[in-house]
Amino acid sequence: RGVSLTRSYRKPARPPLSFVFDIDGVLLRESTVLPAAKRALTLLEGDNAFRTKIPYILVTNGGGKTEEDRCRDLTSQLGFPITTSQFIQCHTILKSHAHRYAEEPVLVLGGRQDEVKKIAQGYGFKKAYSTLDVKAWNPHVWPFYDLTPEELASTTPVDFSKTRLSAIFVFHDPRNWALDVQVAIDVILSGGVIGAPYVNPKKRSSAEKPVQLVFCNPDLQWGAQFQRPRLGQGAFRVAFQAVFKGLTGMEYPYEQYGKPTNATYQFAETVLREHTAKVLGGPVGGTPSVYMIGDNPESDIAGANAAGWSSILVHTGVYNPEDGPPTHQPTHEAEDVEAAVKWAIELRR
Ligand code: G3P
Ligand code: MG
Repeated sequence: RGVSLTRSYRKPARPPLSFVFDIDGVLLRESTVLPAAKRALTLLEGDNAFRTKIPYILVTNGGGKTEEDRCRDLTSQLGFPITTSQFIQCHTILKSHAHRYAEEPVLVLGGRQDEVKKIAQGYGFKKAYSTLDVKAWNPHVWPFYDLTPEELASTTPVDFSKTRLSAIFVFHDPRNWALDVQVAIDVILSGGVIGAPYVNPKKRSSAEKPVQLVFCNPDLQWGAQFQRPRLGQGAFRVAFQAVFKGLTGMEYPYEQYGKPTNATYQFAETVLREHTAKVLGGPVGGTPSVYMIGDNPESDIAGANAAGWSSILVHTGVYNPEDGPPTHQPTHEAEDVEAAVKWAIELRR
């Protein structure tokens, strides 16, 4: 019949290659841009063997600024446009929680506290207060610290003896651990009303809704500019729980977000899929081939491995190969972020 039976068999489209970058210890150390960072992003912005843009997002356990402000900083630091559609910081996930506390007073901890109140209000927490507000209300709440004139000017006048705080959200790394631990203990043991009599949580009536405690970053340490890793929000949580246990004989139940929690990686997967579709001009079929590049085995590598992504551990942050093998085995190790990106792209060719 002369009909050609050979089919032009097209190779199945391979799932798109995409990257998830940790920030501190990979692209930056605090405000210092690491030398390999711009070279790595240049490869993904099109200067690669495929001559196409390769989608990427940034996921950090850092925080303390609005997503818009932090992306503006990152764009200027990295030399490429970083948009909020490709950026997740430790407290971004709290946007989905704000509706539950829209009208309820909550305590927000960490970072520059006037900034964190602004972030929380932007998410929808209409009554977000800081420990500086508490100190301004009654300076005796913590006798060993005096507010600076700037801090006093940034406080919100509130009578906390008439205000029940229903939750404590640790948005970013606390600066004044003593004041913050003291006030958090007061809020929890006084059932939300600072200065009210303490009641051990074990003896509190079940009818009363306990104060919710939420942390956004489990990092015990992180890669800052100092030559050794620095204590992070996870260390503050350990300190708070140690004091709480000393007072009550128990740790206080809490919710944890941030890398490597499943909640944060599921959130990142959604953001990555949406951003990949935006960069490639259409929905992504199948499971994308994701490479996470991080410096902290406990957060970046553990979380990526659990999410089923490929993980690349770099030696420019928390992890130091001289300290022995990493606590979580990455797919690959690389000196820096440029070597990591080149390795993943080469694998793909
Ligand atoms: O809070 C700072 C630190 O925990 C940030 O970590 O490495 O996830 O950007 P990273
Ligand atoms: Mg890091």
